Amino acid sequence: MMKLLIINADQIVTVNTNGKYEKRRGELSQLAVLTDHSIFIEDGKIADLIPNSSIIKYNSYETIDVKNKIILPGLVECHTHTAFAGSRADEFRQKLSGIHYEEIAKKGGGILTTVKAVRESPLHTLADIMKPRVEEFIKQGVTTLEIKSGYGLDFENEIKLLNAVKIIDELYAIDIIATFLGAHTFPLEYKNDHQSYINEIVDKMLPYIAKNKLAEFCDAFCETTAFSPEEIEIIFSKATELGLGIKLHTDQFNSIGGIGSAIKYNAVSVDHLEVLRDSDLLKLSDQDIVCDLLPGVSFFLNYQYAPARKLIDSGAIVALSTDYNPGSSHINNLHMIMSLAALKMGMNIEETISAVTINAAKSVNRNITAGSIEIGKDADFAVFNTNEYADIVYNVGKNLNCMTIKRGRVIYQSDKEKTI
Ligand code: NIG
Ligand code: FE
Repeated sequence: MMKLLIINADQIVTVNTNGKYEKRRGELSQLAVLTDHSIFIEDGKIADLIPNSSIIKYNSYETIDVKNKIILPGLVECHTHTAFAGSRADEFRQKLSGIHYEEIAKKGGGILTTVKAVRESPLHTLADIMKPRVEEFIKQGVTTLEIKSGYGLDFENEIKLLNAVKIIDELYAIDIIATFLGAHTFPLEYKNDHQSYINEIVDKMLPYIAKNKLAEFCDAFCETTAFSPEEIEIIFSKATELGLGIKLHTDQFNSIGGIGSAIKYNAVSVDHLEVLRDSDLLKLSDQDIVCDLLPGVSFFLNYQYAPARKLIDSGAIVALSTDYNPGSSHINNLHMIMSLAALKMGMNIEETISAVTINAAKSVNRNITAGSIEIGKDADFAVFNTNEYADIVYNVGKNLNCMTIKRGRVIYQSDKEKTI
């Protein structure tokens, strides 16, 4: 039995949920910070939180000394498009000259530019491209990472992307969660024949993915340039039948009814919500669905932010993610997303921490095992080189993480510059 003690932390930011496994309203601001405590780990799980006054009986165990540092639950990045190839720097240039993101998409650029690059990349090239990206997240203290497909848009290439995610999952100690996003947009070859592409997804891709356990969730993009609620429901119906969880990109530029479809199919999360209507907002309060907000998109595309304050105050479960992708949020810094949420969406520091830990864990169905420092949960931690958790959000764009621990194992240490 592996036993380990983490001692001397200035703060243990537990994010304790008192057995609820999620945070709403004022709960997001309550982080239950412990001082003068040590964490006792047995077999990769949190076995006890011990007051230092009674630590003496544990002194025969291996220890990790985190003096002058603080510990948070391992961060959960619950919405990324890390599986992409190529660059969209040219389109970034066009955007800076005033051409709108949606306009670029309508002209056959945007997502389809990345689809072309992915189709040209062999499986192992894709996996290789993803490695430094995943390592970048690990260096920030991320111990659970969601990655979507969605740039293949045909059977062969969507499966290739999910296989690349599988290679990555086997390579790294963190939990990688694969999401199938075949319904990201319509590929050129089916531009005028939506039904045939939907049939491809429903009859070929989804059954193969479910059978080979290549994804845990099925996601879609509900938007005027992508899929309508009716089209999405055909896909969700099949995904549900096959046992996949449901997620939905919706209300990013246009509000066309995605929230209703997501609720109807018991989605675990609705993501984006920049143009969420008040009537839909009310439908999300006190629901068992996570609102995953992506302020990096509003920052990168320079438009309105999702109504985080209203959502939290109305009792919705709010999480935060980078949405790391080549087109709408070429930002892979989750700490910076926390700063943006604080500065641009009116969230307080504690709320941003709850949003990248326990509520993000709920968004990928990991809230029973991850997202907070509570007895019985996985010993996943992010150790920060500061004595005060506010510094994580206050130091915009700076990575204060100095150690990442997954199930009781140190997988990254800044002074060793090695990620496993
Ligand atoms: O989450 N909204 C749709 N998909 C991505 C953007 C994808 C891209 O532009 O490549 C997003 O913002
Ligand atoms: Fe996204």
